[in-house]
Amino acid sequence: MSERLEDIAAAMVADGKGLLAADESSGTIKKRFDVIGVESTADSRRDYREMMFRASDAMTKYISGVILYDETIHQNAADGTPLVDIIKASGAIPGIKVDAGAKPLAAFPGDTITEGLDGLRERLAEYYKLGARFAKWRAVIDIDVAKGVPSATSIGSNAHALARYAALCQEAGIVPIVEPEVLMDGAHDIDICYEISKATLTKLYTELYAARVVLEGTILKPNMILAGKKSGKVSSPDEVAEKTIKLFRETVPAAIGGIAFLSGGQTDEQATANLNAINAIGPHPWTLTFSYGRALQAAPQKAWSGKAANVAAAQAAFAHRAHMNHLAALGQWQPTLEQAA
Ligand code: 13P
Repeated sequence: MSERLEDIAAAMVADGKGLLAADESSGTIKKRFDVIGVESTADSRRDYREMMFRASDAMTKYISGVILYDETIHQNAADGTPLVDIIKASGAIPGIKVDAGAKPLAAFPGDTITEGLDGLRERLAEYYKLGARFAKWRAVIDIDVAKGVPSATSIGSNAHALARYAALCQEAGIVPIVEPEVLMDGAHDIDICYEISKATLTKLYTELYAARVVLEGTILKPNMILAGKKSGKVSSPDEVAEKTIKLFRETVPAAIGGIAFLSGGQTDEQATANLNAINAIGPHPWTLTFSYGRALQAAPQKAWSGKAANVAAAQAAFAHRAHMNHLAALGQWQPTLEQAA
């Protein structure tokens, strides 16, 4: 395929396909494995990811790319095939998480800053050689209005880091996914989410412009606009769609390569229903699809539970969620399709 940044970005969001975010750090995947009673070792992590990447029905029809963690991009399947080659053989593009995680922001209790810029140029060159053609950097913006979180300093520092990361990626021939995640964990209502996300995206695009990032060769990975989990409210798909699109029209340039949402702790079906509602009110200036971690993997993880005998059932569970999200990316999903399965 073409190596031009804008072509790679376009392929990542084309045809109702989306991204599988399989880039959980070793700490995060351990938490997921704890839930299903599987010990987290290099081999169990490999077996799990190999099961997903070999789910050819899901991978070939619905998945445009896979975000990997550093360990996984170096791993081979049980038969010795590099996992990257299995992904490529399915037609999907390998990608890599390159940030080093969100750390407490000094002097701003409750705020975080994502680290990982030191040595990034050299790491990107290595990941390119290993086959990565896109990368991901996640900034984390929590909301706790009573405590003054997030601060303008946190939003500004994270936007600046995302812009420096994005420019380095493009220099290396790698498409940056810029992910400024406004968390849905808080007790805030949907309008607070809207306001904080607006400040975050406005600052992000100011910084990307100042860093001379070519917008056509970037993918935005945003949160949807919805009420916080601790608010006790669940925003309806229509409200999520209306507010998310209103915000993006105000803040996100039409020039970017595309938008691929994170699921962020929504239930599997909410993540699908909301993406569908967003696309059903189109057409929009950008292609909007999914880059889900939990909302694609929760069902197959449960079905797999670490047993080789469950591989086919787990692959079918993955294919189902991927199919539902594919339809949502096209605005063609219906709740009845979930019951049918
Ligand atoms: P979730 O879809 O589970 O939020 O994960 C996506 C992701 O890559 C977060 O960085």
